[in-house]
Amino acid sequence: MHKNIVVAVDGPAGSGKSSVSKEVAKRAGLQYIDSGALYRAITLYVLKHCGEQFTRDDVCRLLGDIQLKQVFNNDGSCTTYCNGLDVSETIRNETVATHIGKISDIVAVREYVNMLMRMWAKDHAIIVDGRDIGTVVFPDADIKIYLDATVEERALRRAREYAQKGKNIDVNELKMHIARRDQQDMNRPYGALKKAHDAVYIDTSAMTQQEVIDYIYSLVRNVMI
Ligand code: CDP
Ligand code: CDP
Repeated sequence: MHKNIVVAVDGPAGSGKSSVSKEVAKRAGLQYIDSGALYRAITLYVLKHCGEQFTRDDVCRLLGDIQLKQVFNNDGSCTTYCNGLDVSETIRNETVATHIGKISDIVAVREYVNMLMRMWAKDHAIIVDGRDIGTVVFPDADIKIYLDATVEERALRRAREYAQKGKNIDVNELKMHIARRDQQDMNRPYGALKKAHDAVYIDTSAMTQQEVIDYIYSLVRNVMI
């Protein structure tokens, strides 16, 4: 048995955090936690109960009613439950994406999500992806990774994902959305996206997904030995 290690994977949208983290988790026998999905689930819940005109007070009040759970499945997928309901698909909708920035800016929301993840980390060896995992949530993580890639490359990756689902989305539009989200994520007063001083920086722009997985896995294996 190895100790309950924590691997923190941060980086901007489309840098490969979730796809790479899930594969490393499978290979190394870690639990995967998708922190973005937790923020998405809270956003969905708020929208469902207050509509799009919610206030900060609404969000803080509703936090007490929300019970979140995440399960990392044997097939490498991750299921997010909100009050017993599987919301893994619904949290990916556009309305959630439009409002998530406003919700994830609220300090009480961030503290709630951070508390949950720290609680889960007590019982499991985990790999967690997000924006502030190595800086705020787990500053003592055993391994910290900062994944990056150019805006162009990240937009192309997203475009390929859409194409696989039969959707044709303009790459320039995706580039604009990603750049806007980078600004929002990097300039948040609390929990902003930034590289921890002791994180391993990986520019994945010219790397295949498999190369990134192999590299991170080699770092994890060294700590687990
Ligand atoms: O997959 P993608 O990078 O598009 O987003 P995500 O990881 O699902 O996260 C959705 C949003 O939640 C991000 O744009 C962040 O604004 C927010 N988030 C955050 O504030 N802190 C985290 N640790 C993770 C996500
Ligand atoms: O979680 P995050 O938003 O950081 O990115 P992701 O959803 O894991 O990755 C976005 C897309 O880029 C996925 O379709 C991955 O398969 C792909 N990817 C890639 O083409 N090359 C890499 N080195 C990493 C991810």
